[in-house]
Amino acid sequence: MHRDDETTRAMAYSCRPSHAASFLIALLALPLLAAASSAAPAPAPAIKIKSMDHRGLSVMPLPSPVSGPESLAFDRRGGGPYAGVSDGRVLRWRGRRLGWTVFAYNSRHKSVGMCAAKKKLVVPESVCGRPLGLQFHHMTGDLYVADAYLGLLRVPARGGMAEVVATEAGGVPFNFLNGLDVDQKTGHVYFTDSSTFYRRSQYLLVVALGDETGRLLRYDPRTRRVAVLHDSLSYPNGVAVAADGSSVVVSHTALCELRRYWVRGARVGENETFAELPGYPDNVRSDGLGGYWVALSHGADDAGVDAVPTLAVRVGPGDGAVEEALEGLSFATVSEVAERNGTLWVGSVDTPYAAELGPR
Ligand SMILES: *[C@@H]1O[C@H](CO)[C@@H](O)[C@H](O)[C@H]1NC(C)=O
Ligand SMILES: *[C@@H]1O[C@H](CO)[C@@H](O)[C@H](O)[C@H]1NC(C)=O
Repeated sequence: MHRDDETTRAMAYSCRPSHAASFLIALLALPLLAAASSAAPAPAPAIKIKSMDHRGLSVMPLPSPVSGPESLAFDRRGGGPYAGVSDGRVLRWRGRRLGWTVFAYNSRHKSVGMCAAKKKLVVPESVCGRPLGLQFHHMTGDLYVADAYLGLLRVPARGGMAEVVATEAGGVPFNFLNGLDVDQKTGHVYFTDSSTFYRRSQYLLVVALGDETGRLLRYDPRTRRVAVLHDSLSYPNGVAVAADGSSVVVSHTALCELRRYWVRGARVGENETFAELPGYPDNVRSDGLGGYWVALSHGADDAGVDAVPTLAVRVGPGDGAVEEALEGLSFATVSEVAERNGTLWVGSVDTPYAAELGPR
């Protein structure tokens, strides 16, 4: 019995343990080395470690009883963030005085009684929808939403009712939509279906059982069709379009890695590992300088260790090396980090707040 438990545990944490362990040692040792040798010039590229737990962290509490701002987006005027929450709606942050207001809802909020009211009812999230990844197409002002249960949704710039634009691709229905980004030049929407077998409420099984039925998808607003770019993927989660639009970076949660997929140009169809990570990656967002912020649901080495957990890392352009790490206890898990003008915005699927971490 004991052996069985250990096997299960090893499977659940089988995220390149040797690599992750050596990474963590490097992460812990580097600041000490830097301090010890402060007299000598330090040629090694040190990882910058930043704690989230200080007075620069400003919390944006959600209206009770909703929670879980999993992904964050900003409109073309810089307004926001906008976030999908646990009752299926998309809320907009209007600043300290107004707080969060409703920006968008879906058809279930009109047709299903228990989704309509803001009652303190515990409704299964599959009933009222669960918006996860979201992003604006700035040229049109449309907001695209990957709803884990309802499909690919589009909300007009003024907000209101979300329209369902797709529910299947290649004859296979969407089952667990998750990450989403928009190529701002072409308007193409890239998104992930994390598993065609397990639903979002079963996401732990996707990791533990090594599910490989995920898909990388692309919606073309001109043809209104969804293309399957890759299938048989291991837990594809967050997605971010590269600045030149020729590739997208996808986080593969169960593999603890970021993978780059070329989607246009000479290398179309190719892929390669872009970054190996010290934990299970969730959403990934461009840092505006060619690198990416990657949220980590929890470090692969956190089990049983009471160290301050690494919640997110920033990987640099080119080789995808980890350049910066965010750690802290203010969030159990972080689902997304978005950087704007030196401010970090933080969303989490399991907290009743988002947060802003002041300029660095
Ligand atoms: C960020 O800074 C740029 C220029 O410094 C400015 O134009 C832009 O409005 C700022 N964005 C936000 C969201 O503050
Ligand atoms: C990624 O590329 C390798 C070859 O480099 C190939 O074997 C593999 O099937 C590709 N993966 C996907 C998902 O296309």
